[in-house]
Amino acid sequence: MATVIRTNNLAVCFDSNVPIFEGLDVAVESGEFVTLVGVSGAGKSTLLRVIADLIPASAGSVEIDVPSDPARRPISMVFQAANLMPWRRVGDNITLGLEGLEVSDQVYRERVDWTLKLVGLDGYAERWPYQLSGGQRQRIGIARALATDPDILLMDEPFGALDAITRTGLQDELLRIWRETGKSILFVTHDIEEAVYLGDRVLLLGDKPARVVEEFEIEIARDSRRESEAFQQHVEKVRTGLQGAIDAAESR
Ligand SMILES: Nc1ncnc2c1ncn2[C@@H]1O[C@H](COP(=O)(O)OP(=O)(O)OP(=O)(O)O)[C@@H](O)[C@H]1O
Ligand SMILES: [Mg+2]
Repeated sequence: MATVIRTNNLAVCFDSNVPIFEGLDVAVESGEFVTLVGVSGAGKSTLLRVIADLIPASAGSVEIDVPSDPARRPISMVFQAANLMPWRRVGDNITLGLEGLEVSDQVYRERVDWTLKLVGLDGYAERWPYQLSGGQRQRIGIARALATDPDILLMDEPFGALDAITRTGLQDELLRIWRETGKSILFVTHDIEEAVYLGDRVLLLGDKPARVVEEFEIEIARDSRRESEAFQQHVEKVRTGLQGAIDAAESR
C-alpha cells in the first residue's frame, strides 16, 4: 500500500520558541482511515493545518504522494463549523472549492449533484444555508470538501457540535462515503468511541512537544463494530492511554 501522507521530523513553532511539535512522524496509507485523539491543545488542528499547507512547518517536511490532476485537489479539509457562506445557495457553497480548478461547466454541476447525493441531501442545491439544520450544514461542509474530489480528506472534529443521534448517523454516512470513494482520511476527534468506531488505526497524540505516544490497530469487522465486545475493550485501552497522556501533561 502506498503512503499518501508522511511527516518527517516535523516541527511547528508559533511566536514563542516553544515548539508545538518536534520530530513528529505520522504516516497515512492510501485508502486508510486514521483517527487522531489527544490532549486538548496538543496540536491536532495544527498538524492538520500543516499537512494541508495552510501553515508552514518550522522544520522537517510533509510529503503528500497522490496523483496530480488539474481537475481535482490533492487534499480537502473539513472543520468543526461548516462555515457556509450565508449569501450563497447550498450548491454555490459546494462549488467554492472548485474555483481555480480546471473543470468544465458540466463537471461543475455533476460534482454538486454527486456530493449532495453522497451526503444524503439530494435536491438541496437551491436552498439557503439558513434553511438547514446544524447536521445538514455539516453535511454540506463535507460535500464542499468532497466536491474537489480529493485523494485525502482531513477532518477536524467535524461532528463535535452535533447531538449524539445526528453524530452517529453521520459517522455511518462517512464510513459509507469512505468505502464508496476509497479516499484516505485523517480525522481528529475528542470522542474516543468515535475514534475507535471510525478508525483503522487510532493515533494518540501527547503534548509539549506533541508526538504520537501510542497507536492502536482496530481490527474489528466494520459491520458489527459498535456492538462487539472488542469495541469496548479498545475504547478502554484508548481511554487509559489518553488519561496517561493528560496526567503526563499535567505533571510537566
Ligand atoms: N496561530 C497560532 N499562533 C500561536 N499559537 C497557536 C496558534 N495556533 C495554535 N496555537 C497553539 O498551539 C497549540 C496547539 O493548538 P491546536 O489548536 O493545534 O491544538 P488541538 O490539539 O487542536 O486542541 P483542541 O483539542 O483543543 O482542538 C496550542 O497551545 C495553541 O494555543
Ligand atoms: Mg483542535
